[in-house]
Amino acid sequence: MEELYIGLMSGTSVDSVDSVLVNLANQKIQILAKISTTIPKYLKIQTLKATNSDNLSIQTTESLDNQFGILFAKAASNLLDINSINKSNIKAIGSHGQTIKHSPYPPHPYSLQVGSPEKIVELTGIRTVADFRSADIEANGEGAPLAPLFHQFVFKCNNLDKGIVINIGGISNLTSINNKKNETFGYDCGPGNCLLDAWARYHGKGDYDNAGKWASSGNIIPKLLKIMASDPFFSLNHPKSTGPDYFNLAWLKKKVDLLNQIPSGKDVQATLSELTAQIIFQELKKLESLKEKVYVCGGGIHNNFLVKNIQKKIRGKTLSTESLGIDPDYLEASCFAWLAQQRLKNVEFDLAKITGSKKLICLGKVWDVSG
Ligand SMILES: Nc1ncnc2c1ncn2[C@@H]1O[C@H](COP(=O)(O)OP(=O)(O)O)[C@@H](O)[C@H]1O
Ligand SMILES: [Mg+2]
Repeated sequence: MEELYIGLMSGTSVDSVDSVLVNLANQKIQILAKISTTIPKYLKIQTLKATNSDNLSIQTTESLDNQFGILFAKAASNLLDINSINKSNIKAIGSHGQTIKHSPYPPHPYSLQVGSPEKIVELTGIRTVADFRSADIEANGEGAPLAPLFHQFVFKCNNLDKGIVINIGGISNLTSINNKKNETFGYDCGPGNCLLDAWARYHGKGDYDNAGKWASSGNIIPKLLKIMASDPFFSLNHPKSTGPDYFNLAWLKKKVDLLNQIPSGKDVQATLSELTAQIIFQELKKLESLKEKVYVCGGGIHNNFLVKNIQKKIRGKTLSTESLGIDPDYLEASCFAWLAQQRLKNVEFDLAKITGSKKLICLGKVWDVSG
């Protein structure tokens, strides 16, 4: 008997809504269908503006909540229509939401995701699980990352005991898994693609630096690399999490301004690529995990120059999560489908080593179809 769930993910890169249909029967996962829905340019611009804004108005938040709710519902409905599947076969949708702000620090920790679950339920007629981060923050956790729980599950499905997963999205995060010792933890390493994307956009190179070609044409600026790498975030111990409301164009411009010359765009891009590779390498070194198998997912896997840089530093090949049966572009969407199932089963998680939360918690809230 199948247990069908839909997972919806729209990450900090604001590139697309990734939607998956998965079968989660018998504590296994099988991706049955997937689609990527491009986020319209006007909505992307509004979202990036809101992310970078210091005083976000209630009107803007409500408008984004509504627009993303509609977009998520369309993405889920399209996924079902294309595959001729009736909504009545779906147990639930797990929707992460679009992160606008993530600031898990005292005195007022919060993490804001938009994409109205009420709208998703209304337009799809499918029960929806969303708001996955609040309960963790209420339990004094950082609310992120949550994917390590799923990485651990995927390892178990593949009878693997140990390894590393690196997700290179807007932010890059790392999970260290040791199933034998029941020791899994994960945290954000820092910028993944977010600065590379921001700099490419700023220079009219499109939404991202395709395959890292622009970066590969530049030269690393050692002084800039040093300035950027000395940001206090990188020396924090885990648990730690961050977002593009911290690592953004304003952050980058401040660092570039500390140079006493105006650098060329491609040299800054080369330096950013080096920074992303270096921080991942340094975290692996800190964890004494350089010899572990490293599985990569997230859009950064398509940045050949970046991946090659990482491989050069760790002196070994990285693997795609495809080899674990999970498409690297849909791992996070699959994660939220799985988390929706865990929520409906009232599974409580101990995230002490991942987010730093202080008690066992169920992740997510359920929005049922009325009537
Ligand atoms: N062909 C490519 N070349 C370089 N970078 C790419 C390519 N395809 C995707 N990316 C990068 O991946 C990002 C999207 O990755 P994703 O995992 O969806 O991140 P997020 O979870 O933050 O949305 C893009 O913004 C871009 O930086
Ligand atoms: Mg994305």
